[in-house]
Amino acid sequence: MAKAKTAYVCTECGANFNKWQGQCDACQAWNTLAEFVLEASPVNAKGARAGYAGEGGAARVTKLADVVHGEETRTATGIGELDRVLGGGLVEGSVVLIGGDPGIGKSTLLLQTLGALEARLPGLYVTGEESLGQVSSRASRLGLQLGGLRCLTETCIERIIPQLAKEKPRLVVIDSIQTMYSDQLAAAPGSVSQVREAAARLVRFAKETGISVFLVGHVTKEGGIAGPRVLEHMVDAVLYFEGESGSRFRILRAFKNRFGAVNELGVFAMSELGLKEVPNPSAIFLSGSREPQPGSAVMVTREGTRPLLVEVQALVDQSPLSNPRRVALGLEQNRLAMLLAVMHRHGGLAIYDQDVFVNVVGGIRIQETAADLPVLLAILSSFRDRPMDLPTVAFGEVGLSGEIRPVPNGEERLREAATHGFRRAIVPRANAPKKGYKDLEIVAVDRLSDALDALA
Ligand code: TYD
Ligand code: MG
Repeated sequence: MAKAKTAYVCTECGANFNKWQGQCDACQAWNTLAEFVLEASPVNAKGARAGYAGEGGAARVTKLADVVHGEETRTATGIGELDRVLGGGLVEGSVVLIGGDPGIGKSTLLLQTLGALEARLPGLYVTGEESLGQVSSRASRLGLQLGGLRCLTETCIERIIPQLAKEKPRLVVIDSIQTMYSDQLAAAPGSVSQVREAAARLVRFAKETGISVFLVGHVTKEGGIAGPRVLEHMVDAVLYFEGESGSRFRILRAFKNRFGAVNELGVFAMSELGLKEVPNPSAIFLSGSREPQPGSAVMVTREGTRPLLVEVQALVDQSPLSNPRRVALGLEQNRLAMLLAVMHRHGGLAIYDQDVFVNVVGGIRIQETAADLPVLLAILSSFRDRPMDLPTVAFGEVGLSGEIRPVPNGEERLREAATHGFRRAIVPRANAPKKGYKDLEIVAVDRLSDALDALA
């Protein structure tokens, strides 16, 4: 095939160059030029670009009400936690990117999905990383019935697409997108230009044929998938597969989803026989110690569409450093600094000479502000070296003037706490229910000082 015309485009400002150079002349950024294929875009006599013009070259305006749209066709994968994160099943013709650290279990999850869907959506597995022998031995080690699965070891996108068109699977897994390349580009496989081009071809293919595609993407050291988030814009859904290396549990999180809620969590446990679903995950994010410990608090977080009980631990200790350490794992570092300042100013707790470490149990990352209050309660408990006297949960956002602000879905969070046998809940006043719970004492607070008093 003749080489397509390419150009070097700055990924920061979009300026175009014929040759690669280290610095963009337009925005002065370094190392931002990436090679792109220039699509042939015939321009008609009036200057309208083909593809955007309607009949006779004139664009047509349509009322939204006149647009005929069908419901998207979804197929449940049969893996409940994956379906939850996808928003209720896999949408026909959708492209889903699954990102995660190497070895976290992406290939295993997708092989299981291919197995679960085999009868309804016959699949094809394209591997650029492992040999067919490796794939097959893993499938048999995990006890997956994948005898009928079609596989392809190939990394050149120009050779993959004709094979897909010929085989006509309903579901394709590309493992991984970083190993794929287009022979139209001179850039090395794995570079931003190649990953982007390969993904663009596959997205176009999926939209034209209605075949659903899973792309596996490795997370770079900075935490993004393959460079400056080039892929996230192109695909329909981005799921991250996370978990601590020492932990058995894996969390699948929807980061973007055109067909469902974001921040939805799916929880899996690794086993000899592959990933198992954890339908009631609240239990695993509690550290499980019977005796109440100083420095521990339980929050009710709501990531996605279900409430979760998660333990947060704090260690406050006299610092030998002139600049004490403040370390947050599973929470945002700046938020911790802010909370400590509020605690000092409005809670009357002087801990500026103490090291403060905060950790969220189970390797889960909490993004919502409802974690503010339980984090401060854990810090207080560690500082006083006194555990909570009752099994207590808390949630609530802490404002800069020491006020406790309400968070969404308070009732639902309280119900989850009551179900798991908690005896006391410290909550923002606006979240306190009118009617109490039988065994759950509700402590409604307006200000941080009220919450600290409740534990005095
Ligand atoms: P793998 O799926 O290859 O990870 P990734 O594709 O993200 O790099 O999984 C890594 C290894 O862990 C692999 O040898 C299989 C093993 N594994 C299990 O034994 N059980 C499990 O439940 C999972 C998820 C993985
Ligand atoms: Mg893999």
